[in-house]
Amino acid sequence: MNTVGPEAPDALVIFGMTGDLARKMTFGALYRLEAADQLKCPIIGVASDAWSHDQLSAALRKALTDTGESFDDKTLARLTQRFTYLQGDFTDTGTYTSLATLLRGSARPLFYLEIPPALFGKVVTQLGQAGLTERATVMIEKPFGHDLESARALNEELHAVLAESQILRIDHFLGKQPILDMLFLRFANALFEPVWNRAHVAAVHITMAENFGVEDRGAFYDSVGALRDVVQNHLLQMLALVTMDAPVGPGSGPLWDKKVDIFRAVADVDPAHCVRAQYEGYRQVPGVKTDSSTETFVALRLTIDNWRWAGVPFFIRAGKAMAARATEVRVIFRRVPSLAFLGEVRHADPNELVFRIDPDAGLRLAIRSKGTDGRACRDVHMDLPFAAELGQPPEPYVRLIHDALAGDHSLFTREDAVEETWRILQPLLDNPPAPVPYAVGSWGPAEADDLVRGLPSWRLPWLPEDQAPSSA
Ligand code: BG6
Repeated sequence: MNTVGPEAPDALVIFGMTGDLARKMTFGALYRLEAADQLKCPIIGVASDAWSHDQLSAALRKALTDTGESFDDKTLARLTQRFTYLQGDFTDTGTYTSLATLLRGSARPLFYLEIPPALFGKVVTQLGQAGLTERATVMIEKPFGHDLESARALNEELHAVLAESQILRIDHFLGKQPILDMLFLRFANALFEPVWNRAHVAAVHITMAENFGVEDRGAFYDSVGALRDVVQNHLLQMLALVTMDAPVGPGSGPLWDKKVDIFRAVADVDPAHCVRAQYEGYRQVPGVKTDSSTETFVALRLTIDNWRWAGVPFFIRAGKAMAARATEVRVIFRRVPSLAFLGEVRHADPNELVFRIDPDAGLRLAIRSKGTDGRACRDVHMDLPFAAELGQPPEPYVRLIHDALAGDHSLFTREDAVEETWRILQPLLDNPPAPVPYAVGSWGPAEADDLVRGLPSWRLPWLPEDQAPSSA
């Protein structure tokens, strides 16, 4: 990870310090940064609960225990000493006056908004009115808008106070090492680029399957659905990393320029090329409407109208309560001609390159080889498990908070990218096909197979050996 730059923030202010995300992610990430000696600044937690400093310390210890983080008391004490807690209503001007007093020694605060999206704009406006934003950065959790219009409105509201360079929009997938690796592997190796185009690629499949339901997030999830929850952000970001051209320079600007080029070339999604589905029993989940039409599974086809990708179908599928947890990008190459010299009547299956993101990140090359009888074509795999070869990477939130504190903005989404991703999906948000049911523990509804008919069919994701269900 990068070292701290000259314009790095000198205080971290966390709005929503007593919330769920803080307990599940932020405390653990801050502890790891402290343990690695990478935290240099004071931390102010802001929330409406009446917490004392002791309660905050106890909550921190409990959160680390509950999330299974191994910690030592000395590091925890160091981290606890960084904290100040400010009780306050986010909509009350007095909160910001008190915050300004606490921030008196700070020239460049980083404000991290872990709060309901409806409050993003309001908090930033208040920070501006309190004179706290001149050299600040503001890090914002997802979701960023719920459609194109609301994303534009939120960008406008933020830009009334902040320059784009002061806004850090979080997509935690961008902090995942194997997602960062996709771009590096593609461009740091001469092997891939010559075949990375429509002359050689038959289709690309992006899968994000989760083997659990919406659990205790029923009310939140029911107002969102799979498309907004993971496709607009995580999966379209993955699509960009696997299809974009190489950035022409270092840093965040050139990277996002190339990503936005790809998003601009992605055609508006056609609702006729989309399947929405709901797992059986979803409507009985607490918080979910009994007549809900929210999708817990979505599969869709996208096209990219540029010289590299015209004519190549891109398929995305994402779902809850599926057969296994698997997130991957699968590049399926064109078939070779039939192997007449081997007496093979059928064409060999195509080569595939799989970037496995979760679980157990790795790279797989599926190749075809001769069987020991000298004739039959066999599928063999060359697998590269990243952790075994390269070591364990930092967790996404550790990396993102570190980068934000170091003043490195490359892993945070830019305004135009967010708006383009909403633009791509907007026709589907406007005219969503009715959801069909699918069985818990399946790979989604049969209708998703119809979507790929005549094209490379869905593959069983590359799963770790200890969890291999039978079919795709
Ligand atoms: C979140 C979604 O952004 O990503 C969740 O809101 C999803 O629904 C989660 O489960 C998956 O993230 P990860 O890092 O566990 O794969």
